[in-house]
Amino acid sequence: SMTSAFDFASNLYPLTSTVGNGYAPIGAPIALSNGINSLGGGNLEKHKRLTYLNGLSLVVGLIIGSGIFSSPSQVNINAGSPGASLIVWVIAGILAWTGGSSYAELGGAIPLNGGAQVYLSKIFGEIYGFLFTWCAVVVLKPGSTAIISIIMGEYLVQATIGAEAENVDIWINKGVALVGLFAVTLLNCISTKLGTKMGDMFMFLKFVALLGITVIGIVVALTSFSTTGTANQDWKTHGWFEGTSTSVSSWAVAVYAGLWAFDGWDNTNYVVGEFRNPSRDLHRVIHTAMPLVIISYIFANIAYFFVLPIAAINSSNTVAVMFGSKVFGPVGSLLFALIVSASCFGALNATTFTSGRLVYAAGKEGYMPALFGKIGIGAGSENSHTTLHTRNWASKRLAKFCGDDETGLFFTPVNAMVLNAFLTACYIVVGEFGTLLTFYGVAGYTFYFLTVLGLLVLRVKEPDLERPYRTWWSTPIIFCCVALFLLSRSVLAEPGQTLIVLAFIAAGVPLYFWRVRGRNNVGRESRNSVGWKFWKRFQSR
Ligand code: ARG
Repeated sequence: SMTSAFDFASNLYPLTSTVGNGYAPIGAPIALSNGINSLGGGNLEKHKRLTYLNGLSLVVGLIIGSGIFSSPSQVNINAGSPGASLIVWVIAGILAWTGGSSYAELGGAIPLNGGAQVYLSKIFGEIYGFLFTWCAVVVLKPGSTAIISIIMGEYLVQATIGAEAENVDIWINKGVALVGLFAVTLLNCISTKLGTKMGDMFMFLKFVALLGITVIGIVVALTSFSTTGTANQDWKTHGWFEGTSTSVSSWAVAVYAGLWAFDGWDNTNYVVGEFRNPSRDLHRVIHTAMPLVIISYIFANIAYFFVLPIAAINSSNTVAVMFGSKVFGPVGSLLFALIVSASCFGALNATTFTSGRLVYAAGKEGYMPALFGKIGIGAGSENSHTTLHTRNWASKRLAKFCGDDETGLFFTPVNAMVLNAFLTACYIVVGEFGTLLTFYGVAGYTFYFLTVLGLLVLRVKEPDLERPYRTWWSTPIIFCCVALFLLSRSVLAEPGQTLIVLAFIAAGVPLYFWRVRGRNNVGRESRNSVGWKFWKRFQSR
């Protein structure tokens, strides 16, 4: 007999299930045009509006962000040769694809909003969902926001002072990154509609930039076989595999850098509950988006190699600027710098939005102080925001500009977004692109690994659970093996960083017992969890 996901869920949580459906909606009816703004809204699940195409633009729009314009140097330096780099890009792409397919199966089996938080809670126990949320709030979201801000800062600085400028002070880049972060946060605090409007506006720029690079690369590649125009000849004289790294740890770091560019494949899982037809569309989205992104990334990298000397690619995070200047001169570098920083701005906007929702949901769940689960400025009641502005000329103009009405102004999870911006600013100040990238990879892949492992556990524990989409057995197994391998290598290569990540995760355990056990009074819902049993055993000793 078939068990539905809800029977399954209520078996685990006989009284109430607080995960994934305890959220209050944010604000008045929210446009789902790009879906980004719908993370975690329990009431939003009533409006099943997302279509296959919405999902596709959601995934592709988030995946193509800063990475393909910034990661190539990290991939090359660690892989050692252009040929090895291309192999790394393929490995990273396929790994992201297997991850996406596995998440598609989970999303079909447990069709609730919330992504990994819900799957981990349902499969392993709420403490795992809590620890994921904790790490996402403290490390993953602000860390990824910091990386995108830094790349945006670097590209904006390049755009204004020119691609040829050497030795730009790192604090100029960081300063611009902070200003950008502040601007995006402010805009997202002012109005939900303003945020989504910007998202729509910047979305298409990503496609334009990548398509441009690919087309130019193909043209240059084609002409380079007959003439020696702008094309770089490195690959002719040195071959594709000269210098290939023999260190396994370097390959692991290279794959992490590639994985960053492919990251975001889990994004539809946050809004599964809002799909019109999740059982049909979820895996279709992944199986269209991933090959599209993989192919366009491979083409973009080949284009970089045909146009730029390898040393030049390796020397900076702003490969697209050099690409533009090599092909079109100063105008090209300015154009590419502007396009890429706009693309980063769009990604920053999207990630600020989802981060706000995540922190907000954590506040609503009781995972974090209630302050963060509030709408509007300060700790007042949800309706007090209306008193924050007087209905004057300025607020009317601002509302009109946002495409909102006046009550929509600051009707956003302001506290949550301010917290996220504060943490992001800390990461921008102390962090450096390469370090942040590995850090994000290690922390992120710990939870991706656990979640996909959960898929395997679920198949064994609940073989009859209805699964509208079943991926091959090999998919989660490949993902788990490669992810485990990457994680183990980074433990060896960067023990300090791994310790910091583990410390973050461990710091969440006492918080769980304080926040969630406190919230539940007797902790009914956690009794099935491994963490609870461990705790009981610990207490009885
Ligand atoms: N792939 C994106 C980029 O290249 C990064 C996505 C970060 N992940 C996230 N869930 N915000 O910039």
